[in-house]
Amino acid sequence: MQNFRYALPRIVVHWLAAALILFLLVAGSLVLTEMPNTTEKVGNLRIHMILGGLAGLLVLIRLVLGRVHPAPAPAAGDTMGKVGHVGNVLLNLTILFMAMSGMLLVLQSGALDAAFFGGVLPEDFKAFIPRKVHGLLSRVAMGLIALHVLAAAYHQFIVKDGLLSRMGLGSR
Ligand code: HEM
Repeated sequence: MQNFRYALPRIVVHWLAAALILFLLVAGSLVLTEMPNTTEKVGNLRIHMILGGLAGLLVLIRLVLGRVHPAPAPAAGDTMGKVGHVGNVLLNLTILFMAMSGMLLVLQSGALDAAFFGGVLPEDFKAFIPRKVHGLLSRVAMGLIALHVLAAAYHQFIVKDGLLSRMGLGSR
């Protein structure tokens, strides 16, 4: 019989990534960008870089886990199942590109040096192209996450197929 649930390691990584990404999106757009690039910002920036790198790493771990523990049969029919799959791939790619643009930004602007090796922050990040890409991708990620949550809520509360139990929440 085919499993209905995802394997436990995939469930753990999914919720860990969800919490991290939510924190990074909220704290990044509401706190980090609002701070001037003074020495007080360095601690926040350091945390953002470490957690952002971890979020990127979790995407790669998910790819490996997907090979080791295949997903259960799709919850939705053919077309909707494919749409859901494409949405998930796009979300993973967006987070991966966010991690990459973030790393490029801190390397190019000297912020990596400022955060870990006693260097000085640039006056601001606006002039750097990877900053623009990072900001744009953050809005794409917010849109994709909103669709992801709405689709899950539709399954759970309208279709009532117990979709969330596939990710370890409640029973079918
Ligand atoms: C992959 C997960 C990541 C997410 C979800 C994320 C999220 C965000 C968000 C929402 C912003 C503010 C964007 C805006 O409002 O325009 C931001 C800014 C920034 N992020 Fe990330 N980030 C991630 C990874 C990284 C990484 C890995 C680094 C560096 C190693 C990084 C470095 C930065 C920097 C330097 C800023 C600019 C802050 C400023 O403008 O003052 N981010 N990030």
